[in-house]
Amino acid sequence: MTHGSNKIPATLIPGDGIGPEIVDAVVQVLDALGAPFAWDHQQGGMAGIASGGDPLPGATLDSIRSNKLALKGPLTTPIGGGFRSVNVRLREEFQLYANLRPARTLVPGGRFDNIDLILVRENLEGLYVAFEHYIPVGDDPHAVAVSSGVNTREGSRRIVRYAFEHALKQGRKKVTLVHKANVLKALTGVFLEAGRHVAKDYEGRIAFDDRIVDACAMQLVLNPWQFDVIVTTNLFGDILSDLIAGLVGGLGAAPGANIGDKAAIFEAVHGSAPDIAGKGIANPTALLLAAGLMLDHVGLTDQATHLRKAIDQVLNQDNIRTGDLGGKTSTSDYAKALVQRVGSGL
Ligand code: NAI
Ligand code: MG
Repeated sequence: MTHGSNKIPATLIPGDGIGPEIVDAVVQVLDALGAPFAWDHQQGGMAGIASGGDPLPGATLDSIRSNKLALKGPLTTPIGGGFRSVNVRLREEFQLYANLRPARTLVPGGRFDNIDLILVRENLEGLYVAFEHYIPVGDDPHAVAVSSGVNTREGSRRIVRYAFEHALKQGRKKVTLVHKANVLKALTGVFLEAGRHVAKDYEGRIAFDDRIVDACAMQLVLNPWQFDVIVTTNLFGDILSDLIAGLVGGLGAAPGANIGDKAAIFEAVHGSAPDIAGKGIANPTALLLAAGLMLDHVGLTDQATHLRKAIDQVLNQDNIRTGDLGGKTSTSDYAKALVQRVGSGL
């Protein structure tokens, strides 16, 4: 596709289920905002299978490779048929080592108010390398299950450094490293060691402390406000990022970014929601917030802030909300309200 030189080329994958509906809403709002993306539309998920038999077509990979930037709707991973998770394939293909999961209270009055946390999860190593096998004993083929995790010093330093750099950019005050080095002395000990090493470079600028993962889980529920930026290994990050999404009311408001040196892919944390697909009632907020992270990522912080403000105002001043947040508004009317707010200059 052609685009002006001031445009930023980016791959756009509508995805499956509610994907096309929420992507449509997001593109409308970004247009109203004047976000300078030149979208290269590509297929993925079931749509990819329908067109060429692969949920992650070569053309989609080529597009991401050349644009280095993508916004994607949720992709349905077909059950059976030997398809690997598209999301895992993307992470590996582009070495997207950092998974960024911010959580911020959008609608006050929930169980926790004024939450504003960032979780940075290592996305390629740890127990999720899934080096697993069974050892048969007697007539039981699954008598013993064995799994090995892999954390490298290099990978650990890279993710902790990413967390500190992100903290600096976002004006954050503290990074907390979460581990289980008292038990998994090698696997998560190397992560803690690397973290302490990297933290020295930020002394006087960003505070650093560490927590054991189980204690951290409890503290996140008792007093989440003590945390600012959390950095942790793959498995712990998977679990804690969902916990943190729960603190701000669940999936509807949870954006995610997968970031590497070769590419960055932005998405909502939720899936394709087949139960409500095609009904025009899906909440596009998580994907909108992901688009906000994308604007941050390319340095358009003012537009990102403007977008987040518009979302706050539509939800809390206009009281326009989709069904999952207790409202009655359709996806398209919610998008219209956002377009108005964005255009009004707030
Ligand atoms: P899901 O997140 O799609 O849905 C869980 C529940 O939340 C459903 O009741 C759904 O209606 C609701 N929900 C999700 N997003 C919503 C939104 N934006 N607005 C209103 N309600 C929303 O999880 P589920 O059902 O387990 O997975 C469905 C498919 O999505 C599966 O094929 C799965 O593999 C895929 N998936 C893809 C992801 C991705 O592409 N990043 C992430 C998670 C799941
Ligand atoms: Mg998860």
